[in-house]
Amino acid sequence: MSRDTLRERWRAAAPLIAPSMLKCDFGNLHREIELLEAAGADVLHLDVMDGHFVPNLSYGPVVIERLRDLTSLPFDAHLMISEPDRYLDDYLKAGCDAITFHIEAVPEAAPLLRRMRDAGVVAGIAINPRTPVSAIEPVIAECDVVLVMSVEPGFGGQRFQPAALDKVRALHELAGDGTLIAIDGGIGPETISPCAAAGVDLYVAGSAIFDSTDYRAAIDEMRSLAAVQAS
Ligand code: DX5
Ligand code: ZN
Repeated sequence: MSRDTLRERWRAAAPLIAPSMLKCDFGNLHREIELLEAAGADVLHLDVMDGHFVPNLSYGPVVIERLRDLTSLPFDAHLMISEPDRYLDDYLKAGCDAITFHIEAVPEAAPLLRRMRDAGVVAGIAINPRTPVSAIEPVIAECDVVLVMSVEPGFGGQRFQPAALDKVRALHELAGDGTLIAIDGGIGPETISPCAAAGVDLYVAGSAIFDSTDYRAAIDEMRSLAAVQAS
């Protein structure tokens, strides 16, 4: 699917729920993906960590490439890595539909955003809790997705930081129709409503889904809470 088509599809289908593949059962990824697909996940959020940009290590393009054979769900790789420009081609080749890198990890974001768009993937930038919205302002028109981190990146299961809501509101004002706003960290039934009111389109959720015994119920509950608040 082309980048424009996917972005428009996401916009039309929002609110979207993207399970974060960080707290899943890595011993049985095939089964987890089947369950998430059956549960109505919209996007798989693939948390890539390098032990350098963040103090934790997860998985990389080799694993993503194997997962690609298992599902047609869109993949968004959240690159919590240093030098994302150096590794971008590996994630393109692995079959990602969207790629999100951190603005803190690059001296200049625009060239990388352009490379992603030229390659036909949805281009995303993530911003850390301590990074102001002004850092992203110059390139906002070149972002298909802005991912607001509502926790320090690196670990699942952290508490949602409400300061992220001000950023979402500011980005909502700044962003044109072509830019989706995503949020990541501590998202669950207790925190999703204020995010929806602030203007979030896409919700990344790890613990709220994987700590539940019924993925469908967890996803449905969050989606309907977000939809009620947004309407
Ligand atoms: C954190 C990751 C998140 C994380 C979310 O660095 O980017 O995607 O897995 O997990 P929860 O929903 O548990 O905060
Ligand atoms: Zn993430």
